[in-house]
Amino acid sequence: MKALVYHGPGLKSWEDVPDATVDEPTDVVVRVDTTTICGTDLHILGGDVAAVTDGRILGHEAVGTVVAVGEAVKGFAVGDRVLVPAITRCGRCSYCQAGMPSHCQTVGGVGWILGHLIDGTQAELVRVPYADTSLYLVPDGVSDEQAIFLADSLPTGYEVGVLAGRVRPGQTVAVVGAGAVGLAAVLTTGLWGASKVIAIDSNRFRLDKALEFGATDVVEVGPDTVAEVIALTDGLGVDVAIEAVGYPQTLLTAAALVRPGGRIANVGVHGAPVELPMQDLWIHNVTLTMGLVDTVSIPTLLTMVASGKIPAEKMGTHSFTFDQIDEAYDVFKNAAANSALKVILRP
Ligand SMILES: NC(=O)c1ccc[n+]([C@@H]2O[C@H](COP(=O)([O-])OP(=O)(O)OC[C@H]3O[C@@H](n4cnc5c(N)ncnc54)[C@H](O)[C@@H]3O)[C@@H](O)[C@H]2O)c1
Ligand SMILES: [Zn+2]
Ligand SMILES: [Zn+2]
Repeated sequence: MKALVYHGPGLKSWEDVPDATVDEPTDVVVRVDTTTICGTDLHILGGDVAAVTDGRILGHEAVGTVVAVGEAVKGFAVGDRVLVPAITRCGRCSYCQAGMPSHCQTVGGVGWILGHLIDGTQAELVRVPYADTSLYLVPDGVSDEQAIFLADSLPTGYEVGVLAGRVRPGQTVAVVGAGAVGLAAVLTTGLWGASKVIAIDSNRFRLDKALEFGATDVVEVGPDTVAEVIALTDGLGVDVAIEAVGYPQTLLTAAALVRPGGRIANVGVHGAPVELPMQDLWIHNVTLTMGLVDTVSIPTLLTMVASGKIPAEKMGTHSFTFDQIDEAYDVFKNAAANSALKVILRP
């Protein structure tokens, strides 16, 4: 089969590798019909994720068709159309039972293993361990182009941004970074009745998308970003500041936007330490949350996509075939110049 193989920082190639196979009785093999690229893949290629080593197939999002099933798998059969989420889980360890499969102890102590600790989804075939507890059947009314964004971006913006930030009716929210994850937070913040949702980015196209996705205001990044956002609130800042970029500067921006008693929900993947103004934050009773997505909101989000409440398909702006994957990475990496949000990759 063909797959996108990581060969160290800045290096990747679409090359021939051995076919994915059922190695454990709880595995299935999925033929990848649709995959995409995540901001985290760019962090990996930037050398920010040390656990990803030379030879690893990248990618942790897919919609596909089951083509082989291990003998212990009860819930899936050959031919099923499934969503392969970013998190793999055993369903039985204490973290899985507590609803935090992001730290499934059985699959490796961290639930994000695809395209990280084991081979991933930017390939013609992918092996999915613990298939019964990890995969989701895609309902008939939901297209591949909608379901693919439920593998990671939508649950991440919702769980690590909106739910962790405890957005409540009437509150004000700022989202720093209007990539797919930030926009997912914008889309799902509305579900909790936020009165004001302010999207902040340097990319004009994505700010326009943010308005389309329910932002009430947008701020283009510049020297007055913080002052502009404070002016849009009542002079005190927002109740919830969601960071969806992953740089020290953007976390500091989120910290500067939050009002006393507010919450900073960090979603971005950081590759370096960040020095926070603790001398201001402590006396403002600010809460800071962070974490890896659990993807446990997928059933809820699938229902809302099927009912038309969440227009997930609007996340996809460009389509490529697998053999154009280098071009797809270039377009995604240079998103501003290409008016790109998420790219769709199909065989
Ligand atoms: N916590 C998790 O479980 C989890 C899961 C998936 C992704 N992530 C992380 O979430 C972040 C966003 O992912 P994505 O796929 O949307 O990435 P992305 O690269 O598509 O989006 C990032 C956005 O940030 C904007 N940006 C860059 N510098 C900025 C600045 N100084 N101020 C404001 N905006 C700025 C970019 O223009 C872009 O629109 C990444 O760090 C990714 O690794 C975390
Ligand atoms: Zn991701
Ligand atoms: Zn587990």
